[in-house]
Amino acid sequence: MNTSAAPTTTSEADLAARLPSGFRWGVATSAYQIEGAVDVDGRTPSIWDTFCRVPGAVHAGDHGDVACEHYTRMPADVALIKDLGMDTYRFSVSWTRVQPHGRGGVNPAGIAFYDRLVDELLAQGIDPWVTLYHWDLPQELEDAGGWPVRDTAYRFADYSMLVFDALSDRVDTWTTLNEPWCSAMLGYAYGAHAPGKRDYPAAVSAVHHLLLGHGLATERMREAAPRKLDIGITLNAATAYPASDAAPDREAARRADGMGARLYLDPLVHGRYPADVIADLASEGISLPVEDGDLATISTPIDVLGINYYFSQKFTGYAEDGSTVDAAGLPVSRTVPLDRPRTAMDWEIVPEGFTDLLVRISKDYPGLPMVITENGSAFDDEPDASGFVADEGRTAYFTSHLSAVADAIDQGADIRGYLAWSLLDNFEWAYGYEKRFGIVRVDYDTQKRTPKQSALYLRDLAQQHRTR
Ligand code: NOJ
Repeated sequence: MNTSAAPTTTSEADLAARLPSGFRWGVATSAYQIEGAVDVDGRTPSIWDTFCRVPGAVHAGDHGDVACEHYTRMPADVALIKDLGMDTYRFSVSWTRVQPHGRGGVNPAGIAFYDRLVDELLAQGIDPWVTLYHWDLPQELEDAGGWPVRDTAYRFADYSMLVFDALSDRVDTWTTLNEPWCSAMLGYAYGAHAPGKRDYPAAVSAVHHLLLGHGLATERMREAAPRKLDIGITLNAATAYPASDAAPDREAARRADGMGARLYLDPLVHGRYPADVIADLASEGISLPVEDGDLATISTPIDVLGINYYFSQKFTGYAEDGSTVDAAGLPVSRTVPLDRPRTAMDWEIVPEGFTDLLVRISKDYPGLPMVITENGSAFDDEPDASGFVADEGRTAYFTSHLSAVADAIDQGADIRGYLAWSLLDNFEWAYGYEKRFGIVRVDYDTQKRTPKQSALYLRDLAQQHRTR
C-alpha cells in the first residue's frame, strides 16, 4: 500500500486531542455488499439476490454475486484493516450462509467463514463487532410473509442464537439489526430496497416485528452470554429541522422525526411507542401489531446504541402551492434544501445535524453509550494511473463529521467510538457499484485494493489519538 502519510495538520492533532481516551477507531462493511460467493458452501438466496434480478430495481442491473470477493480475499482484507491502524471491524453475517432455509440447525460450512474471520481479526489485534442482520432476509422467509409477519421475529432470534453460540466465545460486541427503518420503509413501503414492496401498513407491521426480533434476540443472547458482552442495535437517524417556525413546518419536522427516530428509540429505551406517532398512524387507519409483553421484550436493556449518520434534512408542511394538506387530505410533509454542498448520493453535507442528533439523543435517552457505527460519503472518485484516489471531499467529510462528534462530546454526549463507512468500495444497494463509499478503492476488474487519501487520513488521526 501507499505508505506516504496524509499531511499532518494542526487541526488533525487538535481533532485527535478532542476525542476521549479509549475512543474506538474502526471500519464497517456488510455481508451482501462485499462477500460475493453467493452460491457456495450451502448459501441460499436472500431477498437481495432476488431483488437484484428484478429489471430496473438496481442501477445497471448490478448484483452481489461477485462484489468485492471478500469471501475468498478475507485474510488480505483483514491485513488491510490492520495496516490502516483500525482497532475495530464491524461486519455482518449472511443469514442464508449460516441457516440456509431461515430455520433449522447451523450450516457448518457457512458459519466456518465467520469463525475464520473472527480468528483472523483477533490474530491481528482487531476487535470483531458482529451485526446479525444487515438487510439480507432469507428469501424463504420472505416467501412466508417476511418482516410484516410476526413469525419472522422468532426466526431471527433463533438464527441469532446459532451465530451467538458459534462466536460469542470470542466476540464481545453484538448488533442485532442494522437500520431497521431501511428494512421496513425502503423494503416494504417505498419499494426501493428488497423485497421491493409498496404497502405502508405492512411496512409499519415490519417495524414492530423487527423491533420484536431485536428484543427476543437480545434477551436470549444476554441469558446465554458467557461473560459481560456489549449488545445493542444500530439506528439510522438524523436531525429533522423545520423550515420555519410556522406551525405546519414544525408539524412536518415532528412527523419526520417521529417516523424516522422516535418510533424506534422510544420503544427500545422507554418501552412505549410515541403517542403522537401512534395517533398519526391511526388517522390513516394503521396500527402497530403489538401483543402483550412485546414492549417489555423490545425494551430489554442494551449496552450500546449504534448510530449511523449520513445527512440531515429540512422539512416543510406547505406544498408548493401553499396548501397544507395533500390530495388524500393528509398533512403535507416534504423536504426543502438546506442549500449545502452535496455528496455523489445527492445528500446534503450537514455536520451540525450530527451534533444536534447526538446531543438530543443523549438528553432524551440518557445513560446509553453510543458508538458511531457508520459515517461516510460517496464521491465520484478519480483514480490516478496507479489507482490512488486523492479524495479531498471524503477526507473533508470525515474531518467535519468527526469534529461534529467532538462537539457533541463537549456538550455531554457519551460517544465511545467511530467506525467509518466503508472499508471498501462496495455494492451500494439500489445504486449498485456506481456509488463508492470506500476509504479503499476497489478496481472491480482486477479486485485490486488501493487505500485512498481518506484512509491514510483516518489512519493518521487514529495514530495521533493513541499517542497524544
Ligand atoms: C447505511 C447502510 O447501513 C449501508 O449498508 C449503506 O451502504 C450506507 N448507509 C450508505 O448508503
